[in-house]
Amino acid sequence: MKKSFRHFLNLHEISKKDIDLILKYSHRLKKNNKTKQLKEKKILAIIFEKPSTRTKISFDVGMKLLNGDVVTLDHSDSQLGRGESLEDTMKVLSSYVDIIAYRGSDESKLYKLSEISTVPIINGLTDISHPCQIIADIMTLQEKFRSLNNLNLSWIGDGNNVCNSWIHASKHFDFNLKISCPPGNFPENKILKSLNSGKVELFKNPAEAALDADVIITDTWVSMGMKSNPKRLKNFEKFQINKDLLEKTGRTTYFLHCLPAHRGCEVTDEIIDGENSLVWAEAENRLYAHQSILLWCLKKI
Ligand code: CP
Ligand code: NVA
Repeated sequence: MKKSFRHFLNLHEISKKDIDLILKYSHRLKKNNKTKQLKEKKILAIIFEKPSTRTKISFDVGMKLLNGDVVTLDHSDSQLGRGESLEDTMKVLSSYVDIIAYRGSDESKLYKLSEISTVPIINGLTDISHPCQIIADIMTLQEKFRSLNNLNLSWIGDGNNVCNSWIHASKHFDFNLKISCPPGNFPENKILKSLNSGKVELFKNPAEAALDADVIITDTWVSMGMKSNPKRLKNFEKFQINKDLLEKTGRTTYFLHCLPAHRGCEVTDEIIDGENSLVWAEAENRLYAHQSILLWCLKKI
């Protein structure tokens, strides 16, 4: 019989009870100054096919602080670079390690790997989703607001992988999510429809989406692996998060960005460095969120 794994693939497929548990432990780990320890050593393999600073380092540091260890595999120094398939690599690796964090482009490949693997797989980002990020983001908003109930969140910019994972999260939390993107850059209908959540609304005009926002969230206009051009970028100009837009919310509005930020494009310095920017706490919280995700996948919480 196939063993049941706690893969961390996408938020809408994980129960609310488990998401709450992961969040509760994220806060606890932060308060306890990172001290939860694994009784027996566990090894995390990090396989990232795309660049990363925060996700890779926080998983690495987080696992080591839990008394685990980490191996990192990349294309240039492994047989992946000479054409060995990721599927074959995964079969072998999952006999050596206890858990794998994977970052790649193709979401279907992530799901295929989760079927092949004999250990839990964590989605470290695909072109379609970035669920680890949203755990840290929700943690950050819980620190600021306690509860996300009735909070007005506005996603303004590209309807990308991070935005998709916010839509997935809307299945579990009672926030309102307004999304405003240039034409052709909204999240795919498939994602919007699959959740059938009345809490997600789409706006052509960013100022309308910003009205009454407690939190404005954005991300790069050009995600990793995406081809862009000056004409496309021109369409994004009025979606910049700047002082003018923040003045239109009519209330105190906080700012989130998963980073890396492209200052002067999707956000201005005065907003990202401003007193209502939560981005540095958000980035720090990746560490505790990832430790908690590791513990959950390993069935230690
Ligand atoms: N936000 C985020 O995932 O950043 P990295 O690409 O640096 O991991
Ligand atoms: N949407 C961005 C997120 C980076 C963490 C990207 O995929 O490049």
